[in-house]
Formats: sequence, structure tokens, C-alpha cells
Amino acid sequence: MNILPSLKGKKILIGVCGGIAAYKLPHLIRLLVKEQASVKVIMTQAAHDFVTPLTLSVVSKEKVYNDFKTSDAQWNNHVELAQWADVMLIAPATANTLAKMATGGCDNLLLATYLSAKCPVFFAPAMDLDMYEHPTTLHNIDLLTSYGNHLIPSEHGELASGLVGKGRMAEPETIARALSEFFWKEKHLFQGKKILITAGPTYEMIDPVRFIGNFSSGKMGVALANVAASMGAEVTLVLGPTTPHEIDPRVRVVSVVSAAQMYVATTTAFTHTDIAILAAAVADYKPQEQAPEKIKKKTDTLTLTLVKTQDILASLGKSKQQQLLVGFALETENELENARGKLVRKNLDAIVLNSLRDKGAGFSGDTNQVTFITAQGKEIPFPLQSKTSIAEEILKAIHEQLLRETKK
Ligand code: CTP
Repeated sequence: MNILPSLKGKKILIGVCGGIAAYKLPHLIRLLVKEQASVKVIMTQAAHDFVTPLTLSVVSKEKVYNDFKTSDAQWNNHVELAQWADVMLIAPATANTLAKMATGGCDNLLLATYLSAKCPVFFAPAMDLDMYEHPTTLHNIDLLTSYGNHLIPSEHGELASGLVGKGRMAEPETIARALSEFFWKEKHLFQGKKILITAGPTYEMIDPVRFIGNFSSGKMGVALANVAASMGAEVTLVLGPTTPHEIDPRVRVVSVVSAAQMYVATTTAFTHTDIAILAAAVADYKPQEQAPEKIKKKTDTLTLTLVKTQDILASLGKSKQQQLLVGFALETENELENARGKLVRKNLDAIVLNSLRDKGAGFSGDTNQVTFITAQGKEIPFPLQSKTSIAEEILKAIHEQLLRETKK
């Protein structure tokens, strides 16, 4: 999930209008709550036709606001609601609500709260193609952004009418990402820096249909690439064969299969790099020869001769000049000792130790737990958290411990 770890503790007030895209709101709210944001929801009357207040209440773990007064005639204080929020989001924002927001209309709780809001307001329009393209709608969107509201643009695609064009509400992941970027303080931490990252496994071919590989998912390296791009770095990701990932469009991806291809791509990019982080699980051995045809099942046993692959990290350690070099160590025993040994042998500035003995750490999961060890002997443990949060911790540690220290 490509959402930055910056929504924790944030108070998000969501205004839901009556459009078909309202069916995506439970998913959006779950994403935000998973990131530990607090979410409150106001619905317009028309929104009830598309999603139930009960659903939104269950996923937000809060009561849902529908009207100026409750069923037992208590006032729903729109000013307090607006003051509670760190940010307000109107999603889906229908043509009708956009028009009322643009002209100061105030005939429901959502609009009264919007008018009272001093916090930043985001809006994600959703409507059919022709409604979206109508000059009135476009004018209203312009007016709303000119008042300082933040537009989360509609996407192009198939619409409820069957027409294809612009008007679909942005996907929940895109909306969550826009909000997390807004709260992200580290936007410029690596501005002007070129960061090279390797990720994923490598496959070493035995014959045209078989290979030697490993279980690396590439998730840790991809999280590092995405977070580094969000921190302003120019990122090159050399990625081994994995299932598809959500990769930030600002990241330059070089896809490779074998250790030899990863070696070429990485050493080529290294010359123009400021910081290299090698998170890939590179095969240490490959078949001496690749059989040109599929090997037939003719004998009871089959012996493959394996030869060492080139150690990419060690080779960068030998050739490095001004670059900072960070490796990963995946260990199952004598973890700290082995990791420190690799740091010295491969001439690194720091190493990230992954212990497979720690629960929730390692290859395929969404969480990780690591220790960041510097060449100066500092050991900084990062407790179990999402791989995105670990990526943020690692990059901040690189900035604090390596970049600032060496004033590079
Ligand atoms: N690495 C590399 N090229 C290789 C092997 C490893 O660049 N051919 C890098 C990995 O990306 C990682 C680091 O070296 O950053 C350590 O990898 P790891 O597998 O833990 O260690 P190895 O050096 O392979 O040693 P061993 O397998 O004996 O523990």
C-alpha cells in the first residue's frame, strides 16, 4: 500500500454526498483507520441511497452525522465538528454539492460544516462525463480551488452511465495517498539526491523453464523506493522478478531477472548515485551452464554444478567514492555479529539487519522489524511496524546518521 505513514492520529472529517461512488467510502475509511487516523462522517440525505450510515459507522467506529438534529432533537453542532477536524474531505463531491459549496449554499449539515471549516478542505468530484464537462461544473471547481480548497482530480474510465471519460471519483488509495502527502513533513529531506535501490529476488535459469530463486517479495525495497521519492529524491529502482507492486510514478524502474543483469544495471547507475541501498535478495549461486532445451527426466538423480554470482554490494563497496552505501543482512543466527562482519567486509556505511527469528520480520509479509547499524558502531533498533514505516525510519536514519554526519 502506497500510503505514507503520516496519518497516524490525524482527525479526518468526511462529507459523503449522493453519488454512486459513495459505495467506495467504506473501503476508503478502512484504509484511513488502518493508518490510525480518526474518522468522522457526515452524510447528505441523498448519500443514504448509495451507502448506509450503519456501514460507515461500523468502519469509522464513530457515530455518523446526518442532519442538524438527532432523532431525539439534540443539535449536531457543525461548528464543533469543523473545529475537531485536522482536514475535511468531501467525497464523492457531486455536481450539486460542488455548486452549493462554490456559491455558499448551506441547506444541510455537510454544507454548514464546510462553511465553518478553518482546516484544509479536500474534494474528490464524481459525476458523469457530460456533467463533469459542463462549463458550470468546471467553473465551480476552479472557484473552489481559488478559495484554497484542494482538488483530488477525477479519473478517466468507465462511468455508471456506460460512457467512458473523466468523472470517476479517484480511487480510495489515491485519496488516502493525497491526504497522507499533505501531512508528510519530510517532502524535501532528499531533495537533489539520487538514490539507487535494489529489490526483489533474482532468478537463475537452469533450463528455459526452470530456475533457482527465492521467496523475496520485493516489498521492502519497493517501500524504500516509494518513500524516498516522497522525500524528494530522484530514485532508480533495480527490481528483480516479483508480483506487481504499486510503484510511485516518480520512481525510475529497471526490471531485471538474473543476478548478472542486476549487477550490470546497478553498477551502471551507481556512478551517478549519491546513496545506494541494496535490499535485493540476490542469488549467491547460479547453474554453471543453462541447458539450451528443457532437461528431460531420464535419470534417477540429477546433479547441477553451481558457481558463485558476483556480489553486487561488495563490488560497489570496492568502487565507491563519494557515494553512501547501505546493505541489508538477512540472518538466522549470530545476527549482530554476522551483520557487522558484512558491513566491514563489503565496505558499507551502514547495514540493515533483518532477523528471521523475529516474528513479523522478513520476506513476504507487510511488516518488518530491523536494526540499523552504522560503520561508526551505532545500533538503532526499529520495532515491528509496516514496511512503509520501516522504510521511513531507515531513510531518516540514513539522513541523520550518514548524510548529516558527513555533511554530504
Ligand atoms: N548482495 C548482493 N549481491 C549478491 C549477494 C548479496 O548485492 N550476489 C547484497 C544484498 O542485496 C544485501 C547484502 O548483500 O544487501 C547481504 O546479503 P546476504 O544474502 O544477507 O549476505 P551474503 O553476502 O550473500 O552472505 P551470506 O548469504 O553468506 O549470509
